[in-house]
Amino acid sequence: MSNLLEESVLAKEYLKRVGDMAELRMREHLPLDTNEPKRLHEAMRYSMFAGGKRLRPALAYATFEAFHGKGDSIWLAASALEMLHTFSLIHDDLPCMDDDDFRRGMPTAHKKFGEATAVLSGDALCIHAFGLLAKTGSAQVVETIAHSLGTSGMIGGQMIDIESEGKPVSLETVDYIHYHKTAALIEASLVVGAILAGASEEQIQPIRDYGHAIGLAFQVVDDILDIEQTTEQLGKDAGSDLEKGKATYPSVIGLDASKKQAFELYESSIRALDRTTADTKVLRSIAAFIVTRVN
Ligand code: IPE
Ligand code: IPE
Ligand code: MG
Ligand code: MG
Ligand code: MG
Repeated sequence: MSNLLEESVLAKEYLKRVGDMAELRMREHLPLDTNEPKRLHEAMRYSMFAGGKRLRPALAYATFEAFHGKGDSIWLAASALEMLHTFSLIHDDLPCMDDDDFRRGMPTAHKKFGEATAVLSGDALCIHAFGLLAKTGSAQVVETIAHSLGTSGMIGGQMIDIESEGKPVSLETVDYIHYHKTAALIEASLVVGAILAGASEEQIQPIRDYGHAIGLAFQVVDDILDIEQTTEQLGKDAGSDLEKGKATYPSVIGLDASKKQAFELYESSIRALDRTTADTKVLRSIAAFIVTRVN
């Protein structure tokens, strides 16, 4: 564990540095809140700039750098990824979904702006993001992200998550939920960075395997933190999963086995990176960060 904490130092610096660079672009790419419809633009910016780890932009950029990518289109994709992730959070928090009050240390979008504006701000971020992705000029990028978010990805996972509330579920179902609702977009973030750097399918496969493992680990750790941390520490409602009878790793295999599973997924992600010749120093550190993070 102490080794992993040391290993994660680089990732923390990288998330801060790349997160700040991505944030500059996102500010430029989003409509101004002095433009009509002002309240909608204000709500979009509120959720986007409330904080957040900026993990998905950092993953895309780290992979782009690992394959020595050149040019600016990566920033279009990085901005779009964070908008898409934020859209998923706004909708995830709605009363008809997880019904949560805090996100990124602030009241959730529907608490602050009302449900209708929150729904529309999520929709608008999603549509806006696809406009940016189109500007990368890569249909493969658009398709990869669409696939990771639709019924075969995040939205599919969210559907089974909601359907499984309050029911006994198998580990297989939890894996399905976690892979689809969370890991798919994390994996796609990496793949998009690799595509924009011009990597071949053969070069991308180990990165995809790494993404699958850290993506699952990310959600397993999210489940653990929901139990072990405070709302203040998380910036979002702690204990929300138990309250809703969510299908989580700890609810199915227990807390200790969940921690062991997160570490095994970490190890498996590192083994995937061992199969690539790209410079994966940052990605290795990000894997360590994912399993040692506290929020
Ligand atoms: C939270 O994602 C939702 C999950 C997929 C578990 P993050 O933990 O990346 O949220 P932010 O972006 O840092 O707020
Ligand atoms: C949601 O998982 C993942 C997505 C938003 C797609 P959770 O419901 O566990 O995320 P948190 O804990 O509210 O951030
Ligand atoms: Mg949820
Ligand atoms: Mg939630
Ligand atoms: Mg959660």
